[in-house]
Amino acid sequence: MPANTPEGPAAPAQEDPSRRPDIPYQRVLEGQPALVTGANSGIGKAIAIGLAKAGADVVVNYVTDPGAADDVAHAVEAAGGRAMTFQADVSREDQVAAMFTAARAQFGTLHIVVSNAGLQRDAPFEQMTLDQWNTVIGVNLTGQFLCLREAVREFNRRGPDKVVSAATGKIICMSSVHQQIPWAGHANYAASKGGIDMLMRSLAQEVAPRLIRVNAIAPGAIRTPINTSAWDTPAAYADLMKLVPYKRIGEPDDIARAAAWLASDAADYVTGATLFVDGGMTLYPGFATGG
Ligand code: BGC
Repeated sequence: MPANTPEGPAAPAQEDPSRRPDIPYQRVLEGQPALVTGANSGIGKAIAIGLAKAGADVVVNYVTDPGAADDVAHAVEAAGGRAMTFQADVSREDQVAAMFTAARAQFGTLHIVVSNAGLQRDAPFEQMTLDQWNTVIGVNLTGQFLCLREAVREFNRRGPDKVVSAATGKIICMSSVHQQIPWAGHANYAASKGGIDMLMRSLAQEVAPRLIRVNAIAPGAIRTPINTSAWDTPAAYADLMKLVPYKRIGEPDDIARAAAWLASDAADYVTGATLFVDGGMTLYPGFATGG
């Protein structure tokens, strides 16, 4: 057992899996094809599988590692969903258009689009190259613009289908706590996520009368390949826990459950919202003992 500190119990050196409840998914997304970008690893992979557990069919988008995308497709099928994989770089307009065309050919339409693909190219500000800046903005912000635009076009084309869902379409943008928390050494990434906030809310305002719901999830520190160095040693994990009041790292499935809820009719009156799933990372943890 870790020693207690004056502030309360110390963080465990590694996560205790028993702390995370394993509640079965409700099959609330039956008959709803979903497209998830960046779905071959990390948060996107968990969302693809989580939506399938909730009853959806899933387009598994990836850029590299088709084998990993195939594995996710098999997991979707094992959960009872239909699956297809599609290679597309979300920062390329032609590739995004081709992906939506293929999805429509396979599943007839889409009801749910999770614009998740994202990356980091970290650097101290004065050393950040234009290439690092452009790569991050291109995938994290322009890539979401391109996917959201195709999603809205498809929802407009199909129109409402109240048998399947109260909303004509559901869009979920992947943001980050860094749409709110400034992040030294990651100015490109934080700027891209700050941009997502206004992209998401402006679009939500524009398409709400068409019964299209647009929301975002802002994850905190989630155990994925993007941030391995933040959790893969006991020292790094203990450091990370100083930023997490709930004293455990997030698991990709924590985000998948939020996505399944936002995509479902249980969230029918929710649009233009950002759901922070961060164990309290945005609660200014330093102020628990200071200020
Ligand atoms: C970043 C991670 C980071 C987390 C919390 C995420 O958006 O991609 O690298 O660990 O925010 O700081």
